[in-house]
Amino acid sequence: MDRRSFLLTGAASLALSRAQAQMNMRGMSGGTMRGMMGTRRQIVPLPEGEPFRELPKLANQSSKPGTFAAMLTAAPGTARFINGLTTPVLAYNGQSPGPMIEVTEGDAVAIQFVNRIGDISTIHWHGVPVPADQDGAAMSPVADGTGRTYSFTLPAGFAAACWYHPHPHMKTAEQVYRGLAGAFIIRPKVDPVPAAYGDTVLQITDLRLDADGSMPDDTMIDRMNGRVGDHLLINGLKNPVLAVDAGARRRFRLLNSTNARFLRLSFDGAPFTLLGTDGGYLEAPVPGQSEVFLPPAGRVDVVVDFAAPGTHVLHTLAYDHGWMGPTRPDESRQNLLTVKVADTKAAAIPPLPSTLRAIEPPGAPIVTRTLVLGESMGGMMGGMSGGGMGMDMTINGRTFDMNRVDLISKVGQVELWEVQNPTDMDHPFHIHGNSFQVRAFVDLKTGAVTPPPRRALLDVISVPRGQAAQLLVRQMLPGLRMYHCHILEHEDMGMMGLVDVNA
Ligand code: C2O
Ligand code: CU
Ligand code: CU
Repeated sequence: MDRRSFLLTGAASLALSRAQAQMNMRGMSGGTMRGMMGTRRQIVPLPEGEPFRELPKLANQSSKPGTFAAMLTAAPGTARFINGLTTPVLAYNGQSPGPMIEVTEGDAVAIQFVNRIGDISTIHWHGVPVPADQDGAAMSPVADGTGRTYSFTLPAGFAAACWYHPHPHMKTAEQVYRGLAGAFIIRPKVDPVPAAYGDTVLQITDLRLDADGSMPDDTMIDRMNGRVGDHLLINGLKNPVLAVDAGARRRFRLLNSTNARFLRLSFDGAPFTLLGTDGGYLEAPVPGQSEVFLPPAGRVDVVVDFAAPGTHVLHTLAYDHGWMGPTRPDESRQNLLTVKVADTKAAAIPPLPSTLRAIEPPGAPIVTRTLVLGESMGGMMGGMSGGGMGMDMTINGRTFDMNRVDLISKVGQVELWEVQNPTDMDHPFHIHGNSFQVRAFVDLKTGAVTPPPRRALLDVISVPRGQAAQLLVRQMLPGLRMYHCHILEHEDMGMMGLVDVNA
């Protein structure tokens, strides 16, 4: 693969690919009816084994300390996943995945967004506690050919691996699978984890390609289950190779920016030490984990030990998240990253600290809410216009309406949200604005209560079918916030609501 042409799409290629992308974005046209039921497709193999590469960083245009300023332009571009074939994609600044934004807690951030994709879009700062009017939610679309500046000051004390992606009403899924998603890393002012561990972001994306190199539209099966593509990529490459020395301990931030993948990952026996989740550090490192789990949109911060010379492959393990209809894809054993451990010994590094930070328990909730996730066939909303062929995705029986406030809350108020999932599929539930803590999972049939293994800050939680997740939620900023299933097809089809947080 030609890495240069993959990474950077020249201006010359934009005119042609733009028309193509616009065509694709119109949704189900005649030519795409084939495969709409998701009949088995021939998987086009991708080249593997290129050297691993770090995500390119978005340069800070500001020289003022404590500030970050940059521009992000979303536009059609091209990528070359297979030699000789051009893939029309959507890209930020010509790159897919988008450039990594790296900032520090407390920074004042201003990002000028220019939309040239041929349709409405937004940039949502997933997991970042930004004011509601800077959140890039569906209620504030940015028209094609226009722009806006997102500006916010990051609170002190919040450092985490977050990300950014579009959030336009009913169009999020397609804009993300065509390439619009990037990492947004907020570093602490003083990091308790020694720099000798490194810090490498592994952004996982999902790619499906037709034989001509193009990305096919979502099928009806994709709308029901969420799009599960043919290939999992790390930083835009299929199963790249990373070389380390024997005894190396490396820190990775895993980011699941796929539309719908539930990723249960192993490193072929190399043990993980869990450092953090969506909302930053745990209270203490958790060593000796043989696998990690990332729901769609989820992140983990881990250290992996590569003790002895040999090869360790980061790969998926089978995971049953429920499936509707035929053509259930085989999601077991897909290789993401190959680490080759050399014979040379790595230099000794200081041990991990025994504690990372304190996570305060949120206190007793004063409001309890029940949110019931639903799937129903034959709805009006989910008809052809919603692309779901007569299927509705609901919360408390209703599909999303951006002109309807579903819940009213108050800044600083601790609430218990019981998210019940009586459906046939697991749904990753996400709340904008602030991280939450899980109080427990409840089995809907038996009532059995399972507390989480440890205190952690999350912004997305997989709610397994037949269970409820009890979330302790506390919004710290006023305004309208979305909450939704982060299977992006489900979100587009209405499994989403609005909470109005009063000052
Ligand atoms: Cu990752 Cu509502 O978004
Ligand atoms: Cu979000
Ligand atoms: Cu869902």
